[in-house]
Amino acid sequence: MNPPVILGIIGSGKGSNCRAIIEAIEGGQLNARVGIVISDVENAPILSLAVAHGIPSFHLPPGKFKTKLDPSREIMLVEALQQYRVSLVVLAGYMRMVKEPMLEAFPRRIINVHPSLLPAYPGLRSWEQALLAGERRAGCTVHFVDAGMDTGDILAQQIVSILPNDTPESLHARIQLAEHALLPQVISWFAEGKI
Ligand code: GAR
Repeated sequence: MNPPVILGIIGSGKGSNCRAIIEAIEGGQLNARVGIVISDVENAPILSLAVAHGIPSFHLPPGKFKTKLDPSREIMLVEALQQYRVSLVVLAGYMRMVKEPMLEAFPRRIINVHPSLLPAYPGLRSWEQALLAGERRAGCTVHFVDAGMDTGDILAQQIVSILPNDTPESLHARIQLAEHALLPQVISWFAEGKI
């Protein structure tokens, strides 16, 4: 068996995708190890989740921009990921754009999970955009991260039906269930050298 892939997980929120990855590892379905969890949001639940599982974690204050890290902070992010020998960076609910320092340090080694069938509905609250547009299908995508917003090469997608009585909340909850299966699956392809 290959040595476990060392993951660096970056997130801004509750961390349910991070939890799904940890559970897949603990359950023996995923040959990986979470080396470090980093959040741009102080007190984000994803950080306490890491602590509860004995995984190193820290808050990286983002600086003055709303949609990206300050360049100096992004360099700190790269250094931290390298220090923990991360070979695959997983954006799991990270709400900022990734810039050159990260893209150059981890070429085709950064993946993101997004709650729509890209290229449809990039950006924020994608499930709500799909619902408001009257779509019958939504879903989730795991893709490589590039300099664009949710534009990198697509690795896998899962379709989720939109039901007649769906609210934004019920639809997002169902999309998240699909994310929790799809993201560990794609990471396992990395671990097996299939990507
Ligand atoms: C997930 O649904 C993820 O797809 C979305 O944020 C949620 C994070 O949930 N990401 C984006 O919208 C990125 N554009 P989590 O913190 O419970 O994993």
